[in-house]
Amino acid sequence: MFPEVIIHNTLSLDNAFYGFDIDLEAHYSILTSLAPDAVLVGSDTAKTGVEMFYNPIPAETKSDLKRPEKVPGDTRPVSVIVDSRGKLKGLLHIYRNLEHVRDVIVLVSETTPADYLKYLEEREYPYLMSGYDRVDLKEAVGLLGDTFGFSRIVSDSGGRLNCILIDERIASSLSIIIAPLIAGPDHRRYFEDIDSTADLRLKKTENLKNGLVHLVYDIMK
Ligand SMILES: NC(=O)c1ccc[n+]([C@@H]2O[C@H](COP(=O)([O-])OP(=O)(O)OC[C@H]3O[C@@H](n4cnc5c(N)ncnc54)[C@H](OP(=O)(O)O)[C@@H]3O)[C@@H](O)[C@H]2O)c1
Repeated sequence: MFPEVIIHNTLSLDNAFYGFDIDLEAHYSILTSLAPDAVLVGSDTAKTGVEMFYNPIPAETKSDLKRPEKVPGDTRPVSVIVDSRGKLKGLLHIYRNLEHVRDVIVLVSETTPADYLKYLEEREYPYLMSGYDRVDLKEAVGLLGDTFGFSRIVSDSGGRLNCILIDERIASSLSIIIAPLIAGPDHRRYFEDIDSTADLRLKKTENLKNGLVHLVYDIMK
């Protein structure tokens, strides 16, 4: 079955998605409450995260080369990284070692560099191939459902990937935390890559602590 895809973001009131202090506790506690089987992460988001939190990058160890054993009853989500260009080469062990992640899967395309595929295979990272130049996201999400049995995927990515998930109607809802601040003109706007229009239906509003507001919208087909 095609998985349900929910987009989750924290945005400033003026629609920036970076360039301000995101309340990570609120962001991830809402994300966790959505109970995803998998969290979809764009390669730029994944790389930025590593650069932000790891300096220097810890060296890969022997145990990092093995896929983690399945633990019965483990409800942690799998991290699924969209990476047709191999930007995460040499960095994926950071994701494999995150406490809140039970496995790492990579989405690649037919033109993904062979040395990246070799890197993935040598380290037992499962990967799914779809699309020629970039990943065909609709097909890839379908494959994630068929191959791994995921029924709910939450996208924790920036504007570029999430706009495609809206344009292609892969996502069925938006979970947006609005932070009470104006980030100013120096950052990209969340919806600047959108190519379509979409009608939304407001499903939930909730006041969180520190002036944050959580909004949930269904994206109408
Ligand atoms: N505020 C929030 O809630 C939030 C959440 C997450 C991230 N962020 C921030 O967002 C920033 C990164 O956002 P971003 O938008 O630059 O990067 P991103 O979300 O990582 O988006 C880039 C991803 O989109 C894929 N992509 C681009 N065009 C595509 C196409 N035509 N078909 C298929 N896939 C395509 C890329 O794939 P390839 O790798 O294959 O090219 C890449 O994986 C970072 O600063 C991060 O901290 C904010």
